[in-house]
Amino acid sequence: MTDDELIALAREAALKAYAPYSKFHVGCAIESVDGDVVTGANMENACYRLGICAEQSALTAAQHKFGLARVARIAVAGGGIDGASLTGDLTCTPCGGCRQAIFEAACLSGRDIDVLSANGEGTRFEHDAIGSLLPHGFGPANLTEVGE
Ligand code: THU
Repeated sequence: MTDDELIALAREAALKAYAPYSKFHVGCAIESVDGDVVTGANMENACYRLGICAEQSALTAAQHKFGLARVARIAVAGGGIDGASLTGDLTCTPCGGCRQAIFEAACLSGRDIDVLSANGEGTRFEHDAIGSLLPHGFGPANLTEVGE
């Protein structure tokens, strides 16, 4: 799948976000090393701090469909909704918590994961490896010196 196709799926997924409080709709599409794709969107809650980000939603779907260790590429897109399409000029990079969750998947496989961060209208995106979005990340390896 091309970058543009994966971003288009992320933008489509954003239309299924439940974001009545922020009105900021985020979609995420995750491709496995075998080309399987899952999607997710943010889901907010009246208790604001309990909302779930699009990336976390899609990573959960990825774990169920092919396993976190097989995640290869992630596209994220966020913005407002105008009619039936996602809008907005600013690229939506994963928040800090989502970077940590993506980093966990990268650590499991030992491969860096490509992250495509797109703007709402789908006209621009940034391409980064999770290792550069979260340098010196804390991961499973940090826990190996303790335990039974
Ligand atoms: N959001 C995401 O889904 N992913 C991110 O990486 C950034 C923020 C959501 C959370 C909240 O529902 C809305 O965007 C505004 O912060």
